[in-house]
Amino acid sequence: MLFNRRYFGEGKADGGPGYEEEEYVEAIFTTLAHVYSFCISDYLPVLRALDLEGHAKIMKEATRVMDKYHHPIVEDRIRQRRDGKKDEPHDLLDVLVSLTDDNDNPLLSTTEIKAEICEMNLAAVDNPSNALEWALAEMLNKPETLQKAKDELDNVVGKDRLVQESDFPKLNYVKACAREAFRLHPISPFIPPHVSVADTTAAGYFIPKGSHVVLSREGLGRNPKVWDNPSEFKPERHLQGCNEGEEVVLAEPELRLLSFSRGRRGCPGVVLGSSMTTMLFARLLHGFDWSIPANQGTIDLSQPMGESFLAKPLVAVAKPRLSPHVYPCSS
Ligand code: HEM
Repeated sequence: MLFNRRYFGEGKADGGPGYEEEEYVEAIFTTLAHVYSFCISDYLPVLRALDLEGHAKIMKEATRVMDKYHHPIVEDRIRQRRDGKKDEPHDLLDVLVSLTDDNDNPLLSTTEIKAEICEMNLAAVDNPSNALEWALAEMLNKPETLQKAKDELDNVVGKDRLVQESDFPKLNYVKACAREAFRLHPISPFIPPHVSVADTTAAGYFIPKGSHVVLSREGLGRNPKVWDNPSEFKPERHLQGCNEGEEVVLAEPELRLLSFSRGRRGCPGVVLGSSMTTMLFARLLHGFDWSIPANQGTIDLSQPMGESFLAKPLVAVAKPRLSPHVYPCSS
C-alpha cells in the first residue's frame, strides 16, 4: 500500500517472500520489541552513553536495515515528482510526496517523508497479523465459530468473487471474531509508555506529573468485572446489544478493551487498521477451508510468559473453497 509493490526484492519462485522481506520484517519486529523493553537509562539518563543493555546498538542496526529498503524508493519518487514524471497518486508514498502548503511548496521534507514511512510500517504490521493468527487458532479449536463465519461470508459474498470493502458493514460476525482476538490476545501487554504532563486523577488513581504511565491491554481486555468468562474466546459477546442494522467496529472508545486506545495519543490509523484487519481475516476465512493437521488433536494455545505471540506459530491446513477463477493465481 505504501509503495505500490508487493516485495522489495524478487520474492521466492513459489510466490512467497524472499530474503529481503524476511530481513525487513525481522528488523520491524526487533524495533517493536524494543519499544517496550526495560532500559535502566530511561530512569537514569546519565547511563545512556554506556548502552548497558545493548539496545541502542540493536536499534541502530534494525533502523539501518529498514532505511536500506525505504530510502532509495522515497528518494526516487521525490525525484520523479520533481521532474514531472509522476502526477496521480497511486499509493500512500505518492500522497505524502504530493502534499503541498498554501504556497504550493512541498509540505513535507524528505526527512519527514522517510520518518512517516517508517512510522506507518512499524504501526501497521504487527496488530492485524498477531490478532488473526490467534483468532484462527482459537476458531480451529471451536469449529462452530469457523462455520458461523463461513456461513456469513457465503451469504454476503457468495462463492464467485473475493470479499470487497463494500461487504464489511455486513460482516459483523467476522469482525466480532477479530475484535475478540484484540480483546483476548493484544500484540503487546501494554500500550506504548506515556508520561503525564501534569498531576491528575484518573479512574480513582492519583498520577503525579512526570510519571511513566503504561496501560495494560491484557488487564482491560481480561477484566472479570467487565467480561464474563474473560479467558474464553466468544465472539458473540460483541454482538450482544448490537441492534439490527448496527455495525460491529474494531475500535472501543469506552476502553473496555484496548484495541486502538483513544484520546490525543490514541491510534490515528483506526480506519486503515480496521480495514486491513477485516480484509485480511475475511479473505482468509472466505477463501479457504481451514483444518487442524491430521496428526494433531487441537491447536496448542499456550502463550509464553510475558509475550503475546502463540508459543508455537500456527500450522493449519488450507483448502480452496471458492470457484477456481476467483483465485488470482488460477490464471
Ligand atoms: C489493527 C491495526 C492497529 C491497531 C490495533 C493499532 C493500535 C494502536 C495502539 C493501541 C496505539 C497506542 C495508542 C496509545 O498509546 O494510547 C497505536 C498508536 C499508533 N498507531 Fe496504531 N494500530 C493499528 C494500525 C495502525 C495503522 C494502519 C497506522 C498508520 C498507518 C497506525 C498508526 C499509529 C501511530 C502513528 C501511533 C502512535 C500515536 C502517538 O503516539 O501519538 N496504527 N496504535
